Amino acid sequence: MANFETVEVSTDLLIVGGGMAACGAAVEAAHWAKKNNLKVTLVDKAAMDRSGAVAMGLSAINQYVDLKTGKNTLKDYVDYVRNDLMGVTREDLVVNIARHVDSSVHLFEKWGLPIWKDAEGNYVHEGRWQLMINGESYKVVVAEAAKNAIGMANIYERVFIVGPLMSGGKCSGAVGFSVRENKFYIFKAKAVMVAMGGAVHVFKPRSAGEGLGRAWYPPWNSGSSAYFTLKAGAEMTCQEVRFIPVRFKDAYGPVGAWFLLFKARATNAKGESYMDTRKDELEKWVPYGKVKPVPANLRNWLMLLDVMNGLGPIFMRTEEAIQKIAESTTDEKAYKKKMKELESEAWEDFLDMTISQAILWAATNTAPEEKASEIAAAEPYFIGSHSGASGAWVSGPEDLQTSKTKNDYFWGYVNMATVPGIFCAGDASGASSHKFSSGSHAEGRIAAKGAIQYIMKEKPSHSYDKAAIDAMKAEILKPLDLFEQHKAGSSDPEINPNYMKPKMFMFRLQKLMDEYAGGVTAQFSTNKALLEKGMDLLTFLKEDSVNLAAKDLHELMRCWENIHRMWQAEAHMRTILFREETRWPGYYFRSDTPSMKKDWEVFANCKVDPKTGEWTMIKRPIHSIY
Ligand code: FAD
Ligand code: ADX
Repeated sequence: MANFETVEVSTDLLIVGGGMAACGAAVEAAHWAKKNNLKVTLVDKAAMDRSGAVAMGLSAINQYVDLKTGKNTLKDYVDYVRNDLMGVTREDLVVNIARHVDSSVHLFEKWGLPIWKDAEGNYVHEGRWQLMINGESYKVVVAEAAKNAIGMANIYERVFIVGPLMSGGKCSGAVGFSVRENKFYIFKAKAVMVAMGGAVHVFKPRSAGEGLGRAWYPPWNSGSSAYFTLKAGAEMTCQEVRFIPVRFKDAYGPVGAWFLLFKARATNAKGESYMDTRKDELEKWVPYGKVKPVPANLRNWLMLLDVMNGLGPIFMRTEEAIQKIAESTTDEKAYKKKMKELESEAWEDFLDMTISQAILWAATNTAPEEKASEIAAAEPYFIGSHSGASGAWVSGPEDLQTSKTKNDYFWGYVNMATVPGIFCAGDASGASSHKFSSGSHAEGRIAAKGAIQYIMKEKPSHSYDKAAIDAMKAEILKPLDLFEQHKAGSSDPEINPNYMKPKMFMFRLQKLMDEYAGGVTAQFSTNKALLEKGMDLLTFLKEDSVNLAAKDLHELMRCWENIHRMWQAEAHMRTILFREETRWPGYYFRSDTPSMKKDWEVFANCKVDPKTGEWTMIKRPIHSIY
């Protein structure tokens, strides 16, 4: 590509991604970098003010442990996370985030985020761990602090990171391209902090046709973190632990405020609550079937049993919940006031976070105080920061290790992947679920501090092979060349025997994942034979990926997003195949191994050899610290 300028940037710490974890990393790294005269650089594919999952804003802070008042302990939080993930969690990572998360929340408030307060000035809780916020501008507030910390001169927006640069088995930077200008970027760094979120649209979404692109998880997070770490040869964990959120149907409005704050019930077509009528099913999943709150995947499972038995649609009983709260008032005037208040809280929940849900309510004449809304299980997402767990296998903090855990969970620098020089946080790091927005920010701070320590102590120096970088540039830009070369070969450049456009490629990936790896169409069910067939089809797709073509920079980004998704898909299928049990019904069900097995109370990890492309599957022990 002769008309592509190559831009080279040298830095000490490179942060890839500009979301919650990256913003936390920027603030912390700036502090330590100033002390040690180091340079910190951040690259985001979008504009940080509105990038990542928090782009539209959020209506709650889902992790606040409240350690100061002593209402909760670290053990309470780790118990909650372990139970919700059916026993599979890295307690050292969860505790490390939990002991730092409150300070991130206090910083948000200091930076201007409005957190709801009651008459006594205390935070208003949505649930035990969640705080209500006026969060429309949450991301703008958090990004501003990050920008102020490292300075706009060190921030590259609208630059898409494709993959890692490696030197002598260590990570030495990253490469990518501008999505606005003909520029190829080489970022040379001593350490790289990976925070490019999780992945959506690996599976066929429920939204098709005119609704295509609408999903709960943001469409711009496409598996770049997983690709980056896999390509570097880093060990990954919990690649089978996808997240299936139950959401308001079609616009994907979250349910947390309804279940926790409004205490609404979900009922089937006959008005029955599956949480009551199907209680006995929970016995099959003990000990986790017996804990409170019932794990997210088991709540899904009870609902799915109703759906599979023809008892749908399922409704969130907004009208019943609002009436119940309002009826607790003492007189007519107070009742009316309360109704107005509840109505406004109901709309604000979505206007803060998932505006399309408010639009759908308006479009379908839905007044939540009068009419129930349909809910449904969404397609699978990869989001290690929420109620899924997929991500890189990272080192825990030294001070939380015991003689039992040290050899398995600690290798020098906190949050470093198994490849030296790569640090991960948020959706990019695995087995530490329920960190959400606040915990991702806190984990970004933790990982950045670890990365600066690595740079100071190891003093990594790298050599760069120009020929290898030129070859990467040619490979990354190839879809543009392929399009130019062959576009005249058919009357419609969308369809051409010499290449495949990224949208078609994405449809093919989504169809195979949906049908063979337990997507919506398959009612989240799969088995060994289906997965093996799916892997066959994925092999063909991988072969064809060299024929991806792009008419412009936007499509070039789409090509690479889909290659990233394809790698996330492969890690997922291989790990579901490896784990010969069903541990998370409601997320996925392996019909040939339909129950939980004691010998699978382990982490299922995987990695790819960067030289040979060979995959290795690994079992790692679960150690309980608390
Ligand atoms: P993100 O914040 O998503 O950031 C990812 C970043 O990577 C973005 O800046 C993106 O542009 C960038 N990126 C991606 N690919 C590339 C690439 N190739 N090159 C360069 N940059 C790239 N949490 C709460 O606490 N409360 C809530 O109420 C809540 N509600 C939610 C509602 C929705 C709809 C969703 C999706 C999530 C919600 N969460 C909530 C969870 C929370 O948003 C996430 O846990 C958190 O944002 C994860 O942080 P992250 O930094 O890992 O990813
Ligand atoms: S959000 O991230 O899109 O806002 P969601 O609405 O599902 O997610 O959940 C918000 C918070 O409420 C999370 O901490 C989630 O674990 C919790 N939550 C949601 N539904 C329930 C429930 N029925 N019981 C207990 N906790 C719940």
